[in-house]
Amino acid sequence: MQTRLDAIVHSALDRGRAAGAFTCYDLATAYGVVQAATEAGQGVILLVAPSTAARPYGPHLVRALRALADTAPVPVSVQLDHADDLDLVLRTVRAGADAVLVDGSKQGYEGNVELLLRARELLARHDVVLEAELGRIEGNEDVARLIASGGGELTDPGQAADFVERTGVDLLAVSIGNVHGSYLGEPLIDHGRLDAIRAAVEVPLVLHGASGLPVETVRRCISSGVGKINVNTELRRAVLEHLIDQAPVALHRGADLESLLGSWSDVVRHQVLSLIEGFTAG
Ligand code: 13P
Repeated sequence: MQTRLDAIVHSALDRGRAAGAFTCYDLATAYGVVQAATEAGQGVILLVAPSTAARPYGPHLVRALRALADTAPVPVSVQLDHADDLDLVLRTVRAGADAVLVDGSKQGYEGNVELLLRARELLARHDVVLEAELGRIEGNEDVARLIASGGGELTDPGQAADFVERTGVDLLAVSIGNVHGSYLGEPLIDHGRLDAIRAAVEVPLVLHGASGLPVETVRRCISSGVGKINVNTELRRAVLEHLIDQAPVALHRGADLESLLGSWSDVVRHQVLSLIEGFTAG
């Protein structure tokens, strides 16, 4: 059922949980995510990478995710992730995204504020939830590289209140040692910084780069006000490993693509179920 992303997040926080947000490059993955959320009785967020949204089929995929979200028995939101191109933002919202991470993190503090204000103006006639990233989370969102914790630029708690007040964003993604992709060595999450950000702002916080973080770390972050957790690499890896294993079998069984797509969704369902089980405060 269509539900605002911030409502899904607030409802999760009220229950001592965080909502899961999972990158979907295709419909088989999105179907597995929604199946898992339905089974767990939790709201969920379908993330669309800007690289996907920008492809010729991007708007068609977003429309399909919109239909999947609206007919699901649990609350589902469709969010365009990490977008800095406002034309792409508008096209994707028109196709059915109800939330956007407007990402000005590479444009300096004032550039980030400016981009958010332009996005807000552009989307004034649409009911769209806005997330922003303060600081800069290192790594590539689509291709995992090994990156050490603390790459990028950590969120300055001293800027957080001013940033949220000036931009009016609904959620704030933090850079506290988290990275997109694979962690080189042990992830070092700066919990003190997270607590200081939490004390400075009231909006729910978002933890990107959750692939590879120990469940205790994730749970501690939820206790400090993280209400949304983004996962991509772990899902991609699970799907690709499954395909390497099962594609030869499907080929042997008469090039049976249907059953391969079905099992693809099922792998995602399993992975998402086990991840969201750990998305509780602790
Ligand atoms: P990972 O690929 O590290 O899980 O990060 C996903 C993410 O934060 C998407 O916004």
